[in-house]
Amino acid sequence: MKRKSKKRHQYTLIILKPDALVKSLTGNILTRLSEARLRIIAAKVVRVTPELAKKHYAHLVDKPFFNDLYEYFSGKIYGPDYERVLAFVYEGEDAIERVRKIAGATNPLEADPTTIRGAYGRINKKGIMENLIHCSDSEEAAEKEIKLWFSPDEIIEEIYPTKIVVEKNYKRRVWA
Ligand code: PPS
Repeated sequence: MKRKSKKRHQYTLIILKPDALVKSLTGNILTRLSEARLRIIAAKVVRVTPELAKKHYAHLVDKPFFNDLYEYFSGKIYGPDYERVLAFVYEGEDAIERVRKIAGATNPLEADPTTIRGAYGRINKKGIMENLIHCSDSEEAAEKEIKLWFSPDEIIEEIYPTKIVVEKNYKRRVWA
């Protein structure tokens, strides 16, 4: 008898990269993602600093293409209006696999044409894959990435253990 594989409750980090904004595809991509029947538990607009990019793509920092990858991922190649990404945490059964199926293969030229990357991605003149969406590829990566992109207070559920720290002389901006 064929055994059903066990479903896993997972979290995944999704980033809609600047090319998704430039191509006015954010609504379309979120609609496609809604087919996965997952729940959004965090969302924000982020300006990608070199520090954030280096931590996110830590395994690629020494690659010769890293600078071009940063120029794309930060949106700098598209101008100031697009220097931002949309970051989300999705939650649900087999969230990682479900999202990756809808996103398609990393390389848009190899991705199934019905997937987000296959339909709308390209490789630019510098050889960088403009593939519109980042999604975590394992539970370990998801935890690392979610903790890098979001603070506990920005996520509406406590998905990983947290602790309280008291910081002296901590300055923050509030509405005037
Ligand atoms: S690895 O080491 O190749 O397995 O790296 P991977 O985890 O697949 O992530 C590669 C990310 O870099 C983006 N990118 C490129 N990688 C390699 N070569 C080129 N030319 C390139 N251009 C972009 C790729 O899209 C992966 O990022 P994400 O955000 O996961 O799509």
